[in-house]
Amino acid sequence: MSGKITPYNDTSRSKKEQVAEMFDTISQNYDGLNRVISFGIDVKWRKKVVNIVSNTKPERVLDIATGTGDLAINLAQSKAKEIIGLDISAGMLEVGKQKIKAKNLDTVISMVQADSENLPYEDNYFDAITVAFGVRNFEHLEKGLAEIYRVLKPGGVFVVLETSIPTKTPYKQGYKFYSSYILPTIGKLFSKDKSAYSYLSESAAAFPYGEAFNNILKKIGFIEVQDAPQTLGVATIYTATK
Ligand SMILES: C[S@@+](CC[C@H](N)C(=O)[O-])C[C@H]1O[C@@H](n2cnc3c(N)ncnc32)[C@H](O)[C@@H]1O
Repeated sequence: MSGKITPYNDTSRSKKEQVAEMFDTISQNYDGLNRVISFGIDVKWRKKVVNIVSNTKPERVLDIATGTGDLAINLAQSKAKEIIGLDISAGMLEVGKQKIKAKNLDTVISMVQADSENLPYEDNYFDAITVAFGVRNFEHLEKGLAEIYRVLKPGGVFVVLETSIPTKTPYKQGYKFYSSYILPTIGKLFSKDKSAYSYLSESAAAFPYGEAFNNILKKIGFIEVQDAPQTLGVATIYTATK
């Protein structure tokens, strides 16, 4: 399902390679574009994720697909002793490292280049794990989620923030228009990578959300799975534990 939609429709290369290349290419203007395409609402959604995590008073936190590190930086409010931001794109991580250094958070947050489908950590290591707008980019969704389950401590919290699709009229139609025409146009105008923003909307349209994603989490073994649609359903925050 998520494996079929790739950034460059290049059948000779894995989705993972194409995703890493795409994010390397757009890394320098990713933050600015993110604010424009979500009208800045993504900041509010990330804050909610941080509140959920902070309430559990974690010591070790892993932010997977951290990109330029916004969520990892905000997670520093949780007072965790160790925060790791992990991503496959060296370009995205580099932008994030500069932001972390500028905020003097480099003693708490480390940025690690690794693959979510093969996490370099022992079992039951993290008290909290987050993924914001990352799971739909995984090449093998269930493999990535199973790795997250493996490194999460029993009783730890897993929070996913991901795009979803409004189900009610007229928001459903409005969203379709926005994601099919406005989003790719903004992407083409402002991004160096013409395919990137078509990929982002196509992958969002094809990705399971709500009950369908809850069921995938449950299949992996997560318990107490809940979904909370945000802003008319254009994004959803999923919470689960082990
Ligand atoms: C849309 S960005 C989200 C970045 C950040 N979490 C945010 O909220 O702005 C998706 C990120 O997922 C990363 N990614 C995709 N597949 C990955 C994988 N298998 N392992 C680690 N990171 C991955 C990409 O490199 C990219 O930085």
